[in-house]
Amino acid sequence: MSVKRDGSDVGKEVVGERVVELVESGMVVGFGTGSTVGVFLRELAGRDVDVVGVCTSFDTELLARRLGFDVRSLSSVGSVDLAVDGADQVDFDGNLIKGGGAAHFREKVVASFSDRFVCIVDDTKVDSELDLPVPIEVAPFALENVLGEIGCLGGEGVLRSCGEKDGPLVTDNGNFVVDTDFGRIQKPERLSKEISCITGVVEHGLFPGMADSVLVGSSDGVRELR
Ligand code: 5RP
Repeated sequence: MSVKRDGSDVGKEVVGERVVELVESGMVVGFGTGSTVGVFLRELAGRDVDVVGVCTSFDTELLARRLGFDVRSLSSVGSVDLAVDGADQVDFDGNLIKGGGAAHFREKVVASFSDRFVCIVDDTKVDSELDLPVPIEVAPFALENVLGEIGCLGGEGVLRSCGEKDGPLVTDNGNFVVDTDFGRIQKPERLSKEISCITGVVEHGLFPGMADSVLVGSSDGVRELR
């Protein structure tokens, strides 16, 4: 398992700025979560484009409102033209692990209801195979049972704790997150289905084949992975 590395700020900045070029006035845009998305939102706020934003977390909503965006719920807009979001790891086929910010449930919902989902990462996030722990959002009521089922799939789950105070981290949806080490994930699509089949799992951070494009930023500029 590789250790999560700190992203290069240069990579995040160039890709966060470049993706703004895909946004047109009148669009409903899915606003992902995380520092790379933060670059995108700050850049977008400075442009002369008029969009409606659908946020994937309270953190993003706070930032988007502070930047002056028109923020609406997914239910009120129905669908999204373009979703822009980051990731924690991307393999060469464009499969993603997300959920470092514990927002993967809403991120997956927004990406799924979008005409186009563009993932933006810096080049330290790209690897030949996915091997970071997969964040799994779990209904607290079912925690012990889900941990048992995850073990049956060969995963080793650790309940994510809250950084600031004692106790488990609670997501925007009132659930827990279990970061689950599956080693090298050779078949992300299959594992994704297997985790989804566990009753009590709300959503997990594997996004196999979901991104329409993955843009990778580095000090050399921006390249498209797929
Ligand atoms: C949040 C996510 C983020 O997109 C992911 O953690 C990347 O964050 P950052 O852009 O700060 O590196 O999945 O749930």
